[in-house]
Amino acid sequence: MNYEVVLPAAGSGTRMGAGKNKLFLELQGTTILVHTLHVFEQDPKCTGIWLAVKDSEREQIEQLIQEAGITKVKGLPTGGAERQHSVRSCLVKMEPTDLVMVHDAARPFILQETIDKLAAVAFEKGAAIAGVRVKDTMKIVRDGIIQETVDRERLWSIQTPQAFRYDLLKEASDVADKVGFLGTDEAMLVENIGHHVHIVESSYENVKMTTKEDLVFGEAILTSRQA
Ligand code: C5P
Repeated sequence: MNYEVVLPAAGSGTRMGAGKNKLFLELQGTTILVHTLHVFEQDPKCTGIWLAVKDSEREQIEQLIQEAGITKVKGLPTGGAERQHSVRSCLVKMEPTDLVMVHDAARPFILQETIDKLAAVAFEKGAAIAGVRVKDTMKIVRDGIIQETVDRERLWSIQTPQAFRYDLLKEASDVADKVGFLGTDEAMLVENIGHHVHIVESSYENVKMTTKEDLVFGEAILTSRQA
């Protein structure tokens, strides 16, 4: 199942506190962005890479792409204020295709087997997203006081990639754009138009580089993979 991938890369990484886009931070000498790009460059089923970028960072990103020998990039449109807008900037530029995957550029450790499962389920059912079961006990808290302990069996922590038939995601994005619906992931837009979204069990290694501690975890993952 061939697919094109959209990598939103236009965030500011405030929670990382690095004073620059966290995607330019390095893990074992390679930027987080290039680690992620390599995954899709190496997957023969990926036929195109789209990157939503900030205008001010386009040149730097183009240089990284060139130096890393990444050949599949089809476009680097300007991202938006919210991640959802950044994803849409790519969707409106691409030619219609069968499958599209949206993947945070800040998740460099996605496993090929997860990508393969997502592509298969999305091709058959229309929409499939990666996630892992929560490990901790989960509680709803208000004003510092526990309101409720939530049944952990039904809770998943959602990651990317999120894979969709192109037509379905484009329709969901068009509707969200028209009515001003804002979601924290693409699945929410698809749920919003009443379509089922399927979950594919992913890996705890597929962590998003968000805060400083994640970088320590990231270095450890790379080391364990080289062992
Ligand atoms: O901030 P967060 O880690 O949730 O962002 C997830 C991904 O979305 C990152 O790769 C980031 O660069 C991207 N993003 C974007 N446009 C935004 C916000 C985030 O492309 N406005």
